[in-house]
Amino acid sequence: MTPQEKLNTAYEYVAKHIDFCPRLLLVLGSGLGGFAEKIEIVETLDYADIPCFPKSTVTGHKGRFVFGYCEGIPIAAMQGRVHMYEGYDAADAVLPLRLMWMMGAEVLFLTNAAGGIQEGMQAGDFMLITDQIASFVPSPLRGENFDRIGTRFPDMTEIYSRRFQKIIRTIAGEAGIPLKEGVYLQAAGPAYESPAEIRMYRMLGADAVGMSTAIEAVAARHAGMEVCGISCISNLAAGISPTPLSHEEVKAAADASSEKFELLVRKSIAEIGRSLEHGIV
Ligand code: HPA
Repeated sequence: MTPQEKLNTAYEYVAKHIDFCPRLLLVLGSGLGGFAEKIEIVETLDYADIPCFPKSTVTGHKGRFVFGYCEGIPIAAMQGRVHMYEGYDAADAVLPLRLMWMMGAEVLFLTNAAGGIQEGMQAGDFMLITDQIASFVPSPLRGENFDRIGTRFPDMTEIYSRRFQKIIRTIAGEAGIPLKEGVYLQAAGPAYESPAEIRMYRMLGADAVGMSTAIEAVAARHAGMEVCGISCISNLAAGISPTPLSHEEVKAAADASSEKFELLVRKSIAEIGRSLEHGIV
């Protein structure tokens, strides 16, 4: 099956079973999935029930869509995402967000756990993503273009919406939540990086490194979605951290900061929702 056929098959199923039109898709990273249970839930849909949907296999990721209202805004939340390191093509990994775009989502709010590279970063920090480096992973747009979704050569000058960055910055300031800012780099994983790789990424301008997100942002921009993203710095990257890295440490650190993170995300969604209603720039 081509990626387009897979998407259409998945969409047919979801459209038949879900009577909900999300305006915003929230992707929840490792350790952050609990937020989905705190929205006003209308419906849930397990990934495993959707035909052609790649299965999420990582522990700490639940694997379902939660549809409901957050601060009155109709949203879909992904509890668990699909990573390329699980063996999927980039096009498969972005099928979920394309699906939600077809369901009506015009905003993509990305969250993830990431390793901190920027000088002065500490585990537990939050980083507003201002731009990204996706050069180390294949493009999700590779292959035949989905003309129905977007153009062959989409512009990527402003992947992360400046007006949404401004909203998130303001919300964090008002809530007294310190917020770093920087460039997210997507590495292939699943192994964590070597210290030499981290030194290279730092020289290239990366402030945080993770194994998701950048291809999702590219696919979303292709579809014309407006994107924003926040990384939870779960650990200092290899060679900066004094200890070896582990998935358990990453999940535990993300868990530990989840309360503040959820506040930041909730208030940001409320304000983003308002900006959509009023067309505020
Ligand atoms: N590297 C890559 N991905 C990650 C890291 C890291 O240090 N921490 C959380 N996700």
